[in-house]
Amino acid sequence: MKTKYHLPLEDQMFFFQTIEKIINTPDFKKLKQYRHHGNITTYSHVIKVAYMSYCYAIKHQYRIQKKELLRAALLHDLYFYDWHDKHNGVHLHGLFHPKTAVKNAQQLYHITAREKRHMIHHMFPLTLLPPTTKEGWIICIFDKIAALSDYKAIKLKKKAKKRLKK
Ligand SMILES: [Fe+2]
Ligand SMILES: [Fe+2]
Repeated sequence: MKTKYHLPLEDQMFFFQTIEKIINTPDFKKLKQYRHHGNITTYSHVIKVAYMSYCYAIKHQYRIQKKELLRAALLHDLYFYDWHDKHNGVHLHGLFHPKTAVKNAQQLYHITAREKRHMIHHMFPLTLLPPTTKEGWIICIFDKIAALSDYKAIKLKKKAKKRLKK
């Protein structure tokens, strides 16, 4: 699936105006401390998911709530620990982190009931219940695509390093 798409100017403006209200807050900036995939931080990962989801929705002219899509995509992994760390006190991270993210997002960003629905099933099919909204499906799919592209970038970086050593 091609994800490169040049957003029309007004959609670019909407994207930046919406995300800046969240990404510049001190709580959200904490996500820069945590590794998500390899050396990609949770902060970078969720912005990537938001951007890819938004571009896809605009390109295909889906009838969705753009602001909700962006907020839910940014907040879908709002947990404050390194999931790789065996001593973080968290069990079954894959299954339970959407609930943690929703709880944190309710406290810190006052998400709506619909935004909660967009976030809560993003780990499907690991969690049994599928998303119940269009926005939720888009986030769920682009979460996987972003993760794959993160791992691909890490692999390419390693390959390049090896070649440079020769
Ligand atoms: Fe997640
Ligand atoms: Fe994610």
